[in-house]
Amino acid sequence: MTHAKPKPLIRLLGVPLIERVILTAKEAGINEFIIVVGFLGEQIKEELGDGRKYGIKIVYVENDDWEKGNGISVFKARKYLQETFILLMSDHILDYRILEGIINYESSNDIVIGIDRREPLKTDTKVLEKNGQIIEIGKELENSNCIDTGIFRCTPKIFAFIEEAIKENKTELAEAIAVGSEKGHVGIFDVSTADSYDSAMSEDIDTWWININTKEDLKNSRKMLCQQLKKTTDGVISRFINRPISIQISKLLVKTSISPNMISFFCFAVAILASVFLSFPAYWALIIGGILAQITSILDGCDGEVARLKFQSSTFGGWLDSILDRYADGFFIFGLSLGLWFRTENYWGWIVGFFALIGSFLNSYSSTKFEEFVNKQTGFFQFLVRRDLRIFIILLGSLFNQIFWTLFILGVIMNLEVLRRIIVTSLIYSKD
Ligand code: C5P
Ligand code: CA
Ligand code: CA
Repeated sequence: MTHAKPKPLIRLLGVPLIERVILTAKEAGINEFIIVVGFLGEQIKEELGDGRKYGIKIVYVENDDWEKGNGISVFKARKYLQETFILLMSDHILDYRILEGIINYESSNDIVIGIDRREPLKTDTKVLEKNGQIIEIGKELENSNCIDTGIFRCTPKIFAFIEEAIKENKTELAEAIAVGSEKGHVGIFDVSTADSYDSAMSEDIDTWWININTKEDLKNSRKMLCQQLKKTTDGVISRFINRPISIQISKLLVKTSISPNMISFFCFAVAILASVFLSFPAYWALIIGGILAQITSILDGCDGEVARLKFQSSTFGGWLDSILDRYADGFFIFGLSLGLWFRTENYWGWIVGFFALIGSFLNSYSSTKFEEFVNKQTGFFQFLVRRDLRIFIILLGSLFNQIFWTLFILGVIMNLEVLRRIIVTSLIYSKD
């Protein structure tokens, strides 16, 4: 007996391909799924169950003719599909925005195919399109101007096309689509017109999809998924130092059952440890404290990354994350002030510590709303003074054994940033 694994169950960053497709569709608002299973279908059923664990409904349809074309698979599901539906392949990984795009796309065609204008690969199905209508479709087309992404929006009319194709012994879905397109019922949706992931500092990342056939495809999709973990609101230190490291760590974490909340708590525990070292009146302890603080700043990216990669984001988790971070911020600054007091008994340390503390809190407190107000309008500066920079200043200050100046600089920069936000916001609001 071999323990063959059906392709849809191959894991991509901790999540089986088919589960990824389903949860992506769920992000686009789809809650009911009909899954046609054939080869090794039992394993797929076992993995996904009735969908309750994902908050969705799954119905399975058996296709014993799985060795024939994929048109047959679609045809077997016809009795469950009485209204417009989305047809997806379990090994085509895609951005949910493509789905939102095709669902909302205005077209009177019975079938709308997601197409891509890139150069066709050997495995791609080629499409010739004219004025948004499909003229020809097939693997062997000589004249084509786009490719089929395997993302379809269909009315039940598609079953009539499949039936007609089957009568001519054509069992591939593309052959059924060809029947529909001859009658002028098949249109296109260019997937590149879907909303893209806009990033304020780097180039925009286009919405993407990928047909997973080879190890190389898996590698590319891993790269794409990780690329999307960078957030538009990432600070400068985060973007260039923390994120590249945290993404590598998250790639390992997704293979385990460690949850985002566990990471948030672990990160908090390391932060407490860091602040103990920061308060200890010895240079070596200060260095360790600074390095540990920077490590928590890196790990702080992992909870969110794992949550996004495994579709485990939660409102509670996001809230918990931000609360624990504020506690950690408080402990860092308290640790530094205490360390300074132990060394010098100079009360000025508590005063600069207070300004550093209040500035740090207000920097975070003011940022959420601020980003809604002035998103993208203030460019580079908006992303400079954030938590990642705060902790990086603590790291530098520790390495240079300069507690007083660390607190002083934090106090000045953080409060100036708050002041800047007040001014920017008031300028925008005085206009309405
Ligand atoms: O990258 P960052 O840590 O800032 O990501 C925060 C986001 O990650 C939250 O808004 C939330 O959606 C998600 N998250 C989560 N559970 C956690 C931590 C974060 O769902 N424990
Ligand atoms: Ca976090
Ligand atoms: Ca955190």
